Amino acid sequence: MTLTEDQLTTRERPDFSRHSNHAATAPAFFSAWDLHAYYGESYIVQGVSFNIHEGEILALLGRNGAGKTSTLRAIARVGSPLLTHGEVWLDHQPLHSMTSHQAAAAGIQLVPEDRRIIPGLTVEENLQLAQITPPVGWSLDRIYELFPRLGERRKQEGVTLSGGEQQMLAIARALSRSIKVLLLDEPYEGLAPVIVDEIEKTLNIIKEQGITTVIVEQNAVRALMLADRAVILDTGTVVFDGTAQEVLDNEALRAEYLAI
Ligand SMILES: Nc1ncnc2c1ncn2[C@@H]1O[C@H](COP(=O)(O)OP(=O)(O)OP(=O)(O)O)[C@@H](O)[C@H]1O
Ligand SMILES: [Mg+2]
Repeated sequence: MTLTEDQLTTRERPDFSRHSNHAATAPAFFSAWDLHAYYGESYIVQGVSFNIHEGEILALLGRNGAGKTSTLRAIARVGSPLLTHGEVWLDHQPLHSMTSHQAAAAGIQLVPEDRRIIPGLTVEENLQLAQITPPVGWSLDRIYELFPRLGERRKQEGVTLSGGEQQMLAIARALSRSIKVLLLDEPYEGLAPVIVDEIEKTLNIIKEQGITTVIVEQNAVRALMLADRAVILDTGTVVFDGTAQEVLDNEALRAEYLAI
């Protein structure tokens, strides 16, 4: 069971200072605190806590099966895994007591690994469909300015785009909703290095626009080079929380938890 509003007001807010590299003055823009989540009987997310400051890029890393996707899904309030305990706060809004639709309206957008481009719809229709209900985010013009290739292909069926273009469309669709935090699950998967370069550039521009990003990547080095901070998961718990540079500099840590 997630906590009720009453329980929340009578509880002390979590102290993240031991996890954070930032002065513990202002409350975090985003915080996940002591998340526990299950697929049926399988206990997968086992007490995950971390926070993110506004405008940061956080790399959420760990070996296969460490619980990265499950953590993103629990944060976005997707029904499975079921969040049984813990709190997720975004800009003072309690996501833990919301449905996935409410969490999306509050500003969380998850771009899943399979990208979910809708078959039978053009690029533009995929974007328009995302904007059918408020709150709406970036306009089509602004999206096409950031992704000129999507503009050129706007009348093309979305699923016929290249892998890189489909990833751009999936990110564009997240931006077309009112967004504060972008959660990206393996955005570089299956893409050539030159396309990864292009997506990385785009993510830096998105950062300049003030959007906060969490990137989950098997390509940990690329993610660390982009990110400000890193959180490493192992069997559903946080084993490292610090700067991305610390992970790049720490060979033993990388060998133990990332196998790189
Ligand atoms: N739908 C599910 N039902 C039951 N168990 C699941 C389900 N999805 C994932 N798991 C299990 O939960 C654990 C964590 O999986 P998760 O997908 O979150 O890991 P991950 O870190 O994203 O791994 P990868 O790098 O392979 O994507 C794994 O042991 C996985 O087998
Ligand atoms: Mg995964």
